[in-house]
Amino acid sequence: MEFLDWAEATPDQRSAVAALLVHGFDLGPATGWPTLGEAETELARFDEPDRRGFLGLAEGAVAGFVGAIRISASLWELHPLVVRPAERGRGFGRALVARLEEAAWEAGAGTLYLGTDDDRGDTNLHGLDLYPDIPSAIDRIEALRPHPLTFYQHLGYTVIGVIPDASGPGKPDILMAKRLDVESETE
Ligand SMILES: CC(C)(COP(=O)(O)OP(=O)(O)OC[C@H]1O[C@@H](n2cnc3c(N)ncnc32)[C@H](O)[C@@H]1OP(=O)(O)O)[C@@H](O)C(=O)NCCC(=O)NCCS
Repeated sequence: MEFLDWAEATPDQRSAVAALLVHGFDLGPATGWPTLGEAETELARFDEPDRRGFLGLAEGAVAGFVGAIRISASLWELHPLVVRPAERGRGFGRALVARLEEAAWEAGAGTLYLGTDDDRGDTNLHGLDLYPDIPSAIDRIEALRPHPLTFYQHLGYTVIGVIPDASGPGKPDILMAKRLDVESETE
């Protein structure tokens, strides 16, 4: 996979990313962008200085996209990440996240965090009232079916919190973070 900075993407490549945001999210109704217009509005923000984005290209075609929001000099939020369905399971998601981690690290950030919704029942936290004991919810969280929680755990991200009912009653947002130390990882 080759990487292309969002700032250097052509209009056709940008349109391909917008289509990917609409068709590539399969997590449930609260996640993703229902229309091309909404995806294009979101992507237009990546021309602003507080955002960074990378396209992943495979044989010249757009195979994925990863973006981030600079929350502060030391903290970036990963948002969004998507790989073309036909290209999944080939390491592209991992490669896109690694490229973003490298960019964040080079810019001086020490932490990358993200939120991943469970609005479909793919984890054992779905459908519960989490407020009475949030620490234990974090402690016992697990995926019941394929969910990005597992993907990010494979990449070294830790569950640092949950937002109960983020997408409606019983539909939490799972917060995950990773300390960036790109130099020691590549040694
Ligand atoms: C999540 C996503 C980006 C993963 O991309 P991918 O290219 O298939 O992932 P990779 O091939 O790089 O997988 C890396 C590792 O995570 C694992 N993994 C990938 N997707 C997974 C999933 N949905 N559930 C569990 N594990 C997963 C892989 O088995 C692999 O494990 P390994 O390190 O032991 O080999 C992709 O499935 C996707 O675009 N999903 C829809 C959009 C989405 O959910 N984005 C994240 C929202 S927070």
